[in-house]
Amino acid sequence: MKRIGVLTSGGDAPGMNAAIRAVVRTALSMGIEVLGIKRGYNGLLEKDVIKLDSHSVSCIIQTGGTILRTARCKRFYDDKNIEIAVKKAEELGIQGLIVIGGDGTFAGAKKLSSLGLLTIGIPGTIDNDIECTDYTIGFDTACNIALEAIDRLRDTAVSHEKCTIIEVMGRAAGFLALDVSLAAGATDVLLPEHKSDIENEVCKNILQRKMQGKRHNIIVVSEGFGINIHELAAMIKEKTGMEARTTVLGHIQRGGPPTVMDRINATRMGNYAVKLLADNRGNRVVANQRGKIIDYDIEEALSMKKTIDFNDLVICKEISG
Ligand code: F6P
Repeated sequence: MKRIGVLTSGGDAPGMNAAIRAVVRTALSMGIEVLGIKRGYNGLLEKDVIKLDSHSVSCIIQTGGTILRTARCKRFYDDKNIEIAVKKAEELGIQGLIVIGGDGTFAGAKKLSSLGLLTIGIPGTIDNDIECTDYTIGFDTACNIALEAIDRLRDTAVSHEKCTIIEVMGRAAGFLALDVSLAAGATDVLLPEHKSDIENEVCKNILQRKMQGKRHNIIVVSEGFGINIHELAAMIKEKTGMEARTTVLGHIQRGGPPTVMDRINATRMGNYAVKLLADNRGNRVVANQRGKIIDYDIEEALSMKKTIDFNDLVICKEISG
């Protein structure tokens, strides 16, 4: 292995830069050159690359976003473009590729591997929706950002005796919403994985707490639950008489410095990924299981479905006070 490529794809996640840094520095320490590929798979199709030396990844371990930029590449849905990408990689002298992203990114990696380009996936998404790994890069930081926001919103909710409704990210997965709800002490949580009846559960709970003297509520809604939180606020007002305020956290959850956990996870995963390529292994996804870094066949990783820990949802409900 003389030269490898690295790219970030899909939504950015804090810690992606730490992973790029680990990839570059590990490879260089083994005498392998690294090309940074810009804007996900688009950069491979367009041969938009930059040679990464040790200095080019200095002072990025603490930064959010991705120095390589990122994109979702629709052209990769067409198998003809995968063949073109493999050819471009050959022209660039890229013998192995590391892709940092979520399941969409891994679907592309699987196809590249099947055409002979050794490709390794590193899970990077704030959604934490990759089953083979306990933690994806960016999840911990996003949880902490959302938690800090909710702690602040609580002050106002308590002072004004109102409901505060917070929408957190998670396209189709409630991992972020559930962990944040446990950590923030949310009174209610709405997740894509669990059907909730707004009138008979959420509104009833609010009224019951009101009767017991609790006059504020913290309601965390996962984006994937698929409700307009402004409409939810109006419904709560109508059914309970309680004022509700809404906050959509949005992309703020994806920015800023990564936490200790994300930096360490990213560093270990980046280092491990290079070693897989150096052993001429491809078609693998790197994973963190109980703190240990291991690897999975991409196809196997993609076929596994992650679901929330329903016991955590029970705990949320039991101690919502
Ligand atoms: O996959 C990460 C994520 O932040 C999801 O939680 C969210 O649904 C989506 O990306 C938003 O993507 P975009 O960058 O297009 O706004």
